[in-house]
Amino acid sequence: MGKSSKDKRDLYYRKAKEDGWRARSAFKLLQLDEEFDLFKDVKRAVDLCAAPGSWSQVLSREIYQKRHKEEVKLVAVDLQPMSPIEGITTIQADITHPKTLQKILEIFGGEPADFVCSDGAPDVTGLHDLDEYIQSQLILAALQLTTCVLKPGGTFVAKIFRGRDIDLLYSQLSYLFEKVICAKPRASRGTSLEAFIVCIGYKPREDWVPSLDSNKSTEEFFEGANIGRSGNLERLDMPDPEERLIANFIACGDLNSVDSDATYTLAGSDKKASLDPIQMPTAPPYKKALEMKRQGKI
Ligand SMILES: C[S@@+](CC[C@H](N)C(=O)[O-])C[C@H]1O[C@@H](n2cnc3c(N)ncnc32)[C@H](O)[C@@H]1O
Repeated sequence: MGKSSKDKRDLYYRKAKEDGWRARSAFKLLQLDEEFDLFKDVKRAVDLCAAPGSWSQVLSREIYQKRHKEEVKLVAVDLQPMSPIEGITTIQADITHPKTLQKILEIFGGEPADFVCSDGAPDVTGLHDLDEYIQSQLILAALQLTTCVLKPGGTFVAKIFRGRDIDLLYSQLSYLFEKVICAKPRASRGTSLEAFIVCIGYKPREDWVPSLDSNKSTEEFFEGANIGRSGNLERLDMPDPEERLIANFIACGDLNSVDSDATYTLAGSDKKASLDPIQMPTAPPYKKALEMKRQGKI
């Protein structure tokens, strides 16, 4: 989050800077936690697609700072490097790669996680169908990794976009979790299709042993997991209507709190000034372009 005229428009954006969060997304996780008590008894947690790190900051504050520190293990993974956060072990890696799972399990000493979250978003191409497809693949990658690391009874939270085929995903998740809820925190703009699936009570089939392998298709990965009659996650184009499910929808966050779509006038002259970012981007994609421009190459 840089200095921006958004400071004047979006109060969550500004409030994040005032409160020391690296991104306004922190409020989304905090509001989800208010509603679902996500961190109760959590000692081992994984934050997938974590940079710049505001969700990891929330995990650090709500888990590491509030438990016996020596029994807490929190891991954050992102393609981008992340500046350190107290109590968080960061891994710069691709969540779709099987080696990333191995690294997480090593950090956990072979113990399973109580909680996994993913706020993943791929770089947008602008081609709507392609973007929707890549996003859905990222969610499936996060889900596959989660099934390999989450303990039975554990919780999975992930960002989704409520596109055409989302009810099929709800249906498939309902085979893996006791409860699947679609939640919309107030800090997530009402005008955006963004929402979060909150999957509570992981209940994999007892004889299913998920194993990540880059040569396996998604369909092969979930073979034996008994998700849906066909057990086929790739039939997104022509799903059987019976395999679709409407998940419960819950809006969360205090209704009296800031509306992320509204424009507010800031009180006081000092409030008009932009605030410095909490954490400068470590390796933004535009860094190379700026360097090339400086050298007169573009
Ligand atoms: C919206 S940001 C996450 C914000 C973060 N939750 C926070 O609160 O600061 C999405 C992140 O997903 C990461 N990402 C996208 N694809 C990924 C992948 N295959 N493996 C790891 N990270 C990925 C991006 O690098 C980006 O940092």
